[in-house]
Amino acid sequence: ASSSSSTLLPSSSVAAPRTTKITVVGVGNVGMAIAQTILTQDLCDALSLLDANPDKLRGEMLDLQHAAAFLPRTKILSSSSDYSITAHSDLCIVTAGARQLVGESRLNLVQRNVEMFKNIVPQLARWSPDALLLVVSNPVDVLTYVAWKLSGFPAARVIGSGTNLDSSRFRFLLADHLEVNAQDVQAYMVGEHGDSSVALWSSITVAGVPVLSSLEKNQIAYEEEALERIRKAVVESAYEVIRLKGYTSWAIGYSAASLARTLLRDQRSIHPVSLLARGFYGIPDDKEVFLSLPAQLGRGGVLGVTNVHLTEEEARCLQQSADTLWEIQQQLGL
Ligand code: NAI
Ligand code: 2OP
Repeated sequence: ASSSSSTLLPSSSVAAPRTTKITVVGVGNVGMAIAQTILTQDLCDALSLLDANPDKLRGEMLDLQHAAAFLPRTKILSSSSDYSITAHSDLCIVTAGARQLVGESRLNLVQRNVEMFKNIVPQLARWSPDALLLVVSNPVDVLTYVAWKLSGFPAARVIGSGTNLDSSRFRFLLADHLEVNAQDVQAYMVGEHGDSSVALWSSITVAGVPVLSSLEKNQIAYEEEALERIRKAVVESAYEVIRLKGYTSWAIGYSAASLARTLLRDQRSIHPVSLLARGFYGIPDDKEVFLSLPAQLGRGGVLGVTNVHLTEEEARCLQQSADTLWEIQQQLGL
């Protein structure tokens, strides 16, 4: 291969480089927060962007390209309808779709976004049959199930961003309450991303020390009220941000980029993400629901589900979450 640049001498034997390609469908608030975090964190060599609005799409692509001098080298492509630009993606992230108005629930978006997915997902699957699919559009758990059905992919390769974000909000609020660094706090929210998400109290550790049991052991009454306030604040978080700025974007941008890193770089870290949950934690085998459980992720997608201890109450809440999602799925006619 010869160099096209007149400033470099051509080399005679340059092998074609192995590249990592990510596709982001939907360049609204969320898609762009994800795209820009992916670029700054140097997670791919090629980034393809798709959106139904051609002017917005081209504007966003150019604006990102104009930052080339400040970023790792990444080829950025875009098209409003030609999915061939997504060919051979390693990871396809779907953020397209309607978002909540002030006070509206995520589940309210389902019909509109399922129709959109019928157009988007089969085309992604056709051009990148070996890709990992990461669903972000809401309601994320139901749409991850829809993406699984429409793609025909094995369940391990279809993941929803799920409660990876809720867990970050949980860790932030716990860290604030305990006056420690959020990165030293381990704590999981599981179940539905959103209103019926379940806080796993027994999962909270700070620097490896289980918080509730060590408080109990030292006979320090932990403030149940404060913990309950934190759980409610996690569930309320998105509603508050939407009320204040109209949408949420930065936190989901970092959340999705952290998932992209773990998946593409085979980090084998544990993330609570939406996955096919039948058979785990008492969810019956015939309930094909996707909801979040702490899972080990890597280049193959979901590598395993962590066997965390759930109290009876936590298990009951998780099964309730599964029932809610199952009922909605029954009405989709897929
Ligand atoms: P937005 O309205 O800013 O962007 C949506 C984009 O989708 C628009 O640019 C629109 O042109 C595009 N679009 C619509 N139909 C399309 C199609 N058929 N093909 C390609 N593009 C299409 O909305 P925003 O704020 O970016 O939110 C996007 C979605 O992400 C919403 O469903 C929202 O609820 C969800 N979300 C999920 C989060 C999570 O944690 N899972 C966090 C935040 C938002
Ligand atoms: C969020 O939790 C709205 O699902 C979105 O930020």
